[in-house]
Amino acid sequence: MMRIIGISGSLRRSSYNTALLHAARELTPDGVELEIASIAEIPLYNGDIEAEQGLPEAVIRLKDRIAAADGVLLATPEYNGSLPGVMKNALDWLTRPPQDIERVFRGRPVAVVGATPGRWGTRSAQTAWLPIVRAVGMLPWFGQSLFVSGAARAFDGSGTLRDAEMRQRLAAFMRGFTDFVGSRPLE
Ligand code: FNR
Repeated sequence: MMRIIGISGSLRRSSYNTALLHAARELTPDGVELEIASIAEIPLYNGDIEAEQGLPEAVIRLKDRIAAADGVLLATPEYNGSLPGVMKNALDWLTRPPQDIERVFRGRPVAVVGATPGRWGTRSAQTAWLPIVRAVGMLPWFGQSLFVSGAARAFDGSGTLRDAEMRQRLAAFMRGFTDFVGSRPLE
């Protein structure tokens, strides 16, 4: 069984990006499990806390879940043309200590998706992830793009992705990404 970990960059209960991960889980090919992780328990990064108390439990747990996954699916909101601070903050904790970046991130396949009520579908936020993906040495998949614009229409009030064309695109995206993951076994 291939395991993908999906990380939503929103803490909002009715987050479109978390809803997008739920839709991806539903549309993921057979033989693939998409587990959805939250960053809600991760505190603000503070080097003093790290030095005095070590890593917060939530960070240790998420690092281990990423390290155990075959691939990572990031669902990024877009804030002011970039990724949200809470998501970057989580990533920053996850890269501590730096000697552990190898185990958690290096060579691990990653794909980025995003949803917004706005018009441009998180293009800028997804692009803003690229230098971060490079910095931690993940292996980005660029085979397809998935930009959900007009999210208030694409999802219904309970967070189900209703837009039929977008569902098809998401299914194709998940097929493409998981094919890529399957063709790049981690050693
Ligand atoms: C936004 N939003 C937004 N949307 C967008 O498409 N481009 C942008 O640059 C911004 N900027 C922005 C800044 C801030 C501070 C907030 C709070 C919001 C709107 C954003 O896409 C919307 O709130 C989404 O619903 C956030 O994603 P979740 O929480 O639904 O997953």
